[in-house]
Amino acid sequence: MNCLSSKRILLGITGGIAAYKAAELVRRLRERGAEVRVVMTEAAQAFITPLTLQALSGQRVHTDLLDADAEAAMGHIELARWADAVLVAPATADFLARLAQGRADDLLATLCLATRVPLAVAPAMNQAMWTNPATRDNLALLARRGVQVWGPAEGAQACGETGPGRLLEPEVLLERLDGLFAGGALAGKRVLITAGPTREAIDPVRFLSNRSSGKMGYALAAAAVEAGAEVILVSGPVALDCPPGVTLLRAEDALTMYALVQERAPLADIFIATAAVADYRPRQVATAKIKKDAATTLTLELERNPDILAAVAALPGAPFCVGFAAETDDLAAHARKKRLAKGLDLVAANWVGAPGQGFDSDDNALELFWEGGQESLPEAPKTRLARELIGIIARLYQEKYPQGTPQDLHAQDSA
Ligand SMILES: Cc1cc2nc3c(=O)[nH]c(=O)nc-3n(C[C@H](O)[C@H](O)[C@H](O)COP(=O)(O)O)c2cc1C
Repeated sequence: MNCLSSKRILLGITGGIAAYKAAELVRRLRERGAEVRVVMTEAAQAFITPLTLQALSGQRVHTDLLDADAEAAMGHIELARWADAVLVAPATADFLARLAQGRADDLLATLCLATRVPLAVAPAMNQAMWTNPATRDNLALLARRGVQVWGPAEGAQACGETGPGRLLEPEVLLERLDGLFAGGALAGKRVLITAGPTREAIDPVRFLSNRSSGKMGYALAAAAVEAGAEVILVSGPVALDCPPGVTLLRAEDALTMYALVQERAPLADIFIATAAVADYRPRQVATAKIKKDAATTLTLELERNPDILAAVAALPGAPFCVGFAAETDDLAAHARKKRLAKGLDLVAANWVGAPGQGFDSDDNALELFWEGGQESLPEAPKTRLARELIGIIARLYQEKYPQGTPQDLHAQDSA
């Protein structure tokens, strides 16, 4: 899919170590037929030269707000009007703070304030800066105002640490920009999905887990990207490749998955919980491998894991929540009960006893239940089923929030 042809992309670059990746992004955007104009902060110019960006974009690079010559040619308001979309990549913690405050103290911040087109930021910073409550609050505020927050990814960082804070790769940013113009059923929506099993450690070599393959969640992530959404997939250990355009966060156990979801859910419009999260974990994790001894039995004491889905559904300004229910009997009654008990918008239930369906199979069939409605999706490959389900989720979301987002409504209610 290429919806970027002839689109006018204003790329803002701020002063982070990942600024060099912006050069590749400009090159790829132009390959896709987009017109690109680059605006750099002063700090960005310490990391990559305007000359490089000028050569790649084929346009003069804009750096100064108070530049009489620039204002006579294409000034800040014209630049803001020129664009079909504005992307700031990388976006530093400092820039996000200024954007959240509505500052207009340099060219990039000013035109972000002046623009009426979709505005996206791709944060990149040290993981401690990213998890700092100040940054979290700034991002939550920006997301509530409709700014799209793309990434960051997790992994090794330039500073030598590992964690969330890496700039999304240029090809992922391209897909996101493409999605903005694709006009799909979920264009511009932020979708958070969990998938796969969790592993609850017993000792350093053993764990409790289940048969979930993650196929349904991965198929939903791919279908949501196709529908134009920005997708974050929090995945337990599975043997699947991350679909293109999806931000993947890995979680080994339920507590890690809970923490990642709690961090991302306030920014999501839609939360789809397909992961088969272990209900219980061993109360004690042995630090050394448990040895076989003369006893013929071994007792493990288990304690409850937090209910990730119920916790998200209970958040103020909660996203549209979709739960999955794997049932072996009385499917409709159990699914309806689960929807009400957890305060969900939609439950997708499936039989797990049936051969060829459910865990680890490529096919599935779903029974959907929402307030005042239900629908059956007959047996089909999970990829097709995922597209149908995403279509239904998009329709129900649109009916529930004809204008704005869950966060907007919450902000209005509490104002
Ligand atoms: C070597 C170096 C690397 C930096 N990398 C980052 C970074 O990746 N992310 C970030 O938010 N700030 C980073 N900073 C801090 C910013 O450059 C600093 O906050 C600056 O004021 C940002 O200005 P700007 O947002 O106007 O571009 C870095 C600073 C230095 C010296």
